[in-house]
Amino acid sequence: MEMTTPLDPTTLPAWHALTREAEALQATHLRELFAADSERVPQLTSSCGELLVDFSKQRVTARTMALLHALAREAGVDRQIAGLYAGATVNVSEGRAALHMALRADDGEVYHDAGRNVVPEVQRERERMRAFCSRMDSDSRPGTAGRSITDVVNLGIGGSDLGPRMAAQALCARANPMRRVHFVSNIDGADLASLLAGLDPRRTLFIVVSKTFTTQETLANARSALAWARAGLPADAGSEVLAGQFVAITANVKAAAAFGIAAENIFAFWEWVGGRYSLWSAVGLSLALAIGMDDFEAMLAGAREMDRHFRDAPAEQKLPLTLALLEVWNSNFLAAQTRAVIPYSRSLHLFPSYLQQLEMESNGKSVGRDGQRLHTGTSPIVWGSAGSDAQHAYFQLLHQGGRLVPCDFIAFAESDFPLPGHHDQLLANCFAQSEALMHGRTEAEARRELANAGLAETEIARLLPHKIFAGNQPSTTILLPSLSPRTLGMLIALYEHKVFAAAALWGINPFDQWGVELGKQLATQLLPALTGSENAGMDARLNPSTRQLIAYCHRYR
Ligand code: F6P
Repeated sequence: MEMTTPLDPTTLPAWHALTREAEALQATHLRELFAADSERVPQLTSSCGELLVDFSKQRVTARTMALLHALAREAGVDRQIAGLYAGATVNVSEGRAALHMALRADDGEVYHDAGRNVVPEVQRERERMRAFCSRMDSDSRPGTAGRSITDVVNLGIGGSDLGPRMAAQALCARANPMRRVHFVSNIDGADLASLLAGLDPRRTLFIVVSKTFTTQETLANARSALAWARAGLPADAGSEVLAGQFVAITANVKAAAAFGIAAENIFAFWEWVGGRYSLWSAVGLSLALAIGMDDFEAMLAGAREMDRHFRDAPAEQKLPLTLALLEVWNSNFLAAQTRAVIPYSRSLHLFPSYLQQLEMESNGKSVGRDGQRLHTGTSPIVWGSAGSDAQHAYFQLLHQGGRLVPCDFIAFAESDFPLPGHHDQLLANCFAQSEALMHGRTEAEARRELANAGLAETEIARLLPHKIFAGNQPSTTILLPSLSPRTLGMLIALYEHKVFAAAALWGINPFDQWGVELGKQLATQLLPALTGSENAGMDARLNPSTRQLIAYCHRYR
């Protein structure tokens, strides 16, 4: 089943209406929008279960939202959502479906890939994960001879790292204290070597995660980890290491077997799962070992709730679509170049990095699904970090830098690490920032404040320009009761589906990533020039700047 060729969204009537809407709203400050409409907050708030999305501080009105939804209808977003769930070839350039929802499917749910229901095999792998986790708990895995594994090292990069790493950090309050889970992704030896220095080779389990099992960084780290484990064990323990202490999660079982990993330690991952959508599969094994399989399944259940919401809720209530429409509004009509994501949760501090891959690798495209060059921009630059630290780093620019930077604030009513008084202060900061960014401080307000502080008129005149905040900085606040496996699952799936809905609006394929290929190919070509002697391997076809950089490295080694 192929998706039909999309229209260029900029040719749609709603696009033109939105262009006029942006012009009409240009001179209206968010302060005025709030003052003009007492119903603004309920009108511009939506929810799914306990997950609340307040987008009343975005530069929109109910009329803007109606026009944005008209755009979604004209772009056929509902038909595209139906295609996603039906296993259509949404990944057109690679000829694949994208069925990450199947990874969190419940008994009785059906997801088809090429006419075959994939849910039974997903559930079989999930059962294998459960069995593996309980064998780890009871220490009866082959090869480990009753020694308990104290450290688990996930070796993977991109989607084979960021998801489980972020979620393990997010749910660290629930982590098994008897077992540490680590993540190594970087080819830089500092990543692996500094970790191994503190580990015991007899008590360390390595999970090599790679969909392709060809990724340079991951394989180099896996080979070094194997050499380290072998060197740290008795000479006759070589095969025991691979049998008992190396696990692979991959769609390329042959390559994992060729690496030497025992068949019973290889977990499947399928071509119809994109790397950055794979956390829900055995790619989450390190996470499951950290928090336990029951919590892992609770996370799947949270994501499943969002899957059903995205599939079944009326368009106007679909939260992922709302976020996608706001993205299109801010990026394409208000010309925002970036979006900041600020979780007011230290445990969620890796969420912005996770979203960078999810959003920018998915939607950083300039060619439509039909291969035509787009006439509009796509994903903004996504960045951010945990509040309140962020306030003391770059919020100055958000308040007075003069750039339009829409923000996503994420917060939880309850703390995962309660300390008396801390959480209320954290939330007060979160809510104060979004209000300050929205409202700003007018000249009259600034003048009054300085006068109230008893300053002389000359001093007021000197300081006044510095004390004015333009405000009108748009933000969305996402609230959840607490950071639990279920709410985390909902939150991640919210953004996954938002990415799909935005791609559907722009007419792009969010499931390929050809842009990452060129750099990988060049690195492979350059390697001989770096590993060779000073002059050997210096291919005259290399760019002179690159040759200079390589020559410098040879000189200083
Ligand atoms: O960075 C490109 C990419 O292909 C990502 O999409 C993917 O998550 C990552 O590399 C790792 O790939 P693999 O799981 O095949 O090692």
